[in-house]
Amino acid sequence: MSSPAAQRFVERVNDRTVVIGIVGLGYVGIPLALAALRQGFRVIGFDIDQNRVDQLNAGRSAIKHIPMDLIIEGVKDKRFEASTDFDRMAEPDALLIAVPTPLTKYREPDLSYVVRTTEAIGRRLRKDQLVVLESTTYPGTTDEVMRPILEKATGLKSGEEFFLAFSPEREDPGNPDFGTSTIPKVVGGDGAAALEMSMALYGALVVRAVPVSSTATAEAVKLTENIFRAVNIALVNELKVVYAAMGIDVWEVIDAAKTKPFGFMPFYPGPGLGGHCIPIDPFYLTWKAREYDIATRFIELAGEINSRMPYRVVADLAQLLDTKGRKNLSDARILVMGIAYKKNIDDMRESPSLKLIELIEKRGAHVEFHDPFIPVIPPTREHADLTGRKSVSVSRESLASFDAVLIATDHDDVDYASLVAHSKLVIDTRNACARAGVSADNVFKA
Ligand SMILES: NC(=O)c1ccc[n+]([C@@H]2O[C@H](COP(=O)([O-])OP(=O)(O)OC[C@H]3O[C@@H](n4cnc5c(N)ncnc54)[C@H](O)[C@@H]3O)[C@@H](O)[C@H]2O)c1
Repeated sequence: MSSPAAQRFVERVNDRTVVIGIVGLGYVGIPLALAALRQGFRVIGFDIDQNRVDQLNAGRSAIKHIPMDLIIEGVKDKRFEASTDFDRMAEPDALLIAVPTPLTKYREPDLSYVVRTTEAIGRRLRKDQLVVLESTTYPGTTDEVMRPILEKATGLKSGEEFFLAFSPEREDPGNPDFGTSTIPKVVGGDGAAALEMSMALYGALVVRAVPVSSTATAEAVKLTENIFRAVNIALVNELKVVYAAMGIDVWEVIDAAKTKPFGFMPFYPGPGLGGHCIPIDPFYLTWKAREYDIATRFIELAGEINSRMPYRVVADLAQLLDTKGRKNLSDARILVMGIAYKKNIDDMRESPSLKLIELIEKRGAHVEFHDPFIPVIPPTREHADLTGRKSVSVSRESLASFDAVLIATDHDDVDYASLVAHSKLVIDTRNACARAGVSADNVFKA
């Protein structure tokens, strides 16, 4: 039997009078706001970053691939506003949290953003509000970390006086086929009423809401999806090395294998893992598993293989320069093509290109980079020295001045035929040239 509060909430979702608050206006929060606006809801976005808030209120975004039309329209007709004033967190009926969940420098879960946000909500939470965590995290976060903070701060009881849920974000930035509203969303509630409310809300926002039995299960679903990717990418990275030694092209193998209509799913090798999810999330589970004295060997092995990839690429680069370019890496000028962690986006968090630049420079070479999406390298914790380095323009003359071009990201917006025609040596870690139909004697896969 559903609670009166849940029933009221569901009715208000149906007539679109529920106000949605989104905490954390980044790669996940902004598309979520767009999905809510598209469905006719009023949205208040919260962020600690005044600059980001001002940009959004002015109809601009720091994230290139996200179209701003709905935000502009929403600001105009007062259905969207962004704010740093957390006292307004009592206004929305539902607060959806999409703040960062990185690793600490000791590679352990850094829940400080989630905790700070939960504390901020705890100071303002009112009766009957729904709070949903969307940030990727280990099983138990919603129940063991958030619930006690909210209950202690408010004196209210989860499941009766306020409602708490977890619904993992599955955003895939730059994916032309799937966006927030066309990707089904898994939902786990702290109790039946929280589940009912979140199912109604996400059912209105996305193509399909999928209920699971608990918040911990929903947290585990997200980690499972990303661990699946990390392990499979490690597998093809390992196969790439084995097959290369045998003179077999792993991309040709995968493209042929994927013609099997069942039981095979293609994953592609690369210069290492990047992005905010795959290199990080699996270690949330590894950390939590230790509490149960259980080792996560597949995850650790995948991490080991994937984190060795940039070193292998640099070894291949040195060898190819030596044998094909008659040049020592220490005297060479290298152009790294692409520093985004994947193609066609401007996100370079955890990008293997930064590691590649660092490793190649350590060998004494001179390195420049070109990325049509990232004109300047922003500050990063692990590669602070690279902050402020600028993308160089690519021309016939500039290409000829490099001893080798290392393709690290396969952006579509690159003329690979011209790149190959005017470069001395091209080392392709993404199979980008072949995919663009370009083959030549100076192109090598690594
Ligand atoms: N980027 C993706 O493709 C993706 C996909 C699936 C899941 N996720 C997960 O979603 C979560 C958010 O990731 P993201 O990529 O959107 O991060 P992001 O860094 O792009 O955005 C996070 C935003 O939160 C803001 N923020 C930080 N602390 C805050 C606080 N205390 N209160 C309010 N705002 C605060 C930041 O200023 C920033 O604007 C992470 O857990 C991530 O693992 C991301």
